[in-house]
Amino acid sequence: MPIKEGERVYLRLEDGKNYLLKVEKGKFFSTHLGNIYFDHIIGKEFGEEVYTSQGKKVYLLQPGIVENIFHMKRRTQIVYPKDLGFILLMLDIKENDRVIDVGLGSGAMCGALARLVGERGKVYAYEKREEFIAIARHNLSQWGWEDRVEIKQRDIKDGFEEKDVDALFLDVPNPWDYLKECWRALKGGGRLAIVSPTAGQVMEVLRGLEALPFEDTEVWENLFRQYKTNPSAFRPVDRMVAHTTYMIFSRKVSPPDWEVDLKET
Ligand SMILES: C[S@@+](CC[C@H](N)C(=O)[O-])C[C@H]1O[C@@H](n2cnc3c(N)ncnc32)[C@H](O)[C@@H]1O
Repeated sequence: MPIKEGERVYLRLEDGKNYLLKVEKGKFFSTHLGNIYFDHIIGKEFGEEVYTSQGKKVYLLQPGIVENIFHMKRRTQIVYPKDLGFILLMLDIKENDRVIDVGLGSGAMCGALARLVGERGKVYAYEKREEFIAIARHNLSQWGWEDRVEIKQRDIKDGFEEKDVDALFLDVPNPWDYLKECWRALKGGGRLAIVSPTAGQVMEVLRGLEALPFEDTEVWENLFRQYKTNPSAFRPVDRMVAHTTYMIFSRKVSPPDWEVDLKET
């Protein structure tokens, strides 16, 4: 399919620099290797190349979720692909799932959830700050997944409007304060994932989970190392991201009378 005006293209320059840009007729983009004219791109196929005004090669690639996340507009900390892929699997996110995402923030996790739940699934995304919602909306509409997300400008201290959701993802500074609300919103056996960057937060969450009908709790951290791809000098990159977040996973169980107990507390 030829590239059309308005389409987003991942441009990879011959020195390895890359850009994710929307193709706009009659316009150009300046780089350190010369200008890239969008009119040269319109009508080309993905995988083909164009040349800058300095005669340097530019490959035209289709952006995927990883490029989208690394190039997205953001005003908050986001969940990076390093942790995101594992969380999606641990939450067992699949087509038609109904999932809650809090806080929406810039929408990285929300976009990844929306992608997997498909056209008939739904992500209910809670965020208390209007300015972040605007950014997340912009990102989700660029990725084409806005229709799968219902954004709610609400503080989750007031609880969730949904019941029986398949999974719930919590990325807020004080997740332990909302564990009862999470329990109420999840279906029996439903999966909860929480990200927290510091050990103190994890300990607080673990205490909270222990006091509630949650089972199968696990805590994980991903240690990732990237490698240089020069075949004659294959070795790790010089710098590495040492820590992003801890990830806590747990599942709702439903002993008799627990809802009664929860209402009373
Ligand atoms: C780290 S950001 C979330 C980033 C997001 N997961 C992503 O991948 O882009 C945390 C967000 O939670 C929101 N937040 C914090 N407490 C909240 C609450 N009680 N109710 C709703 N949103 C909350 C903040 O406003 C912030 O935007």
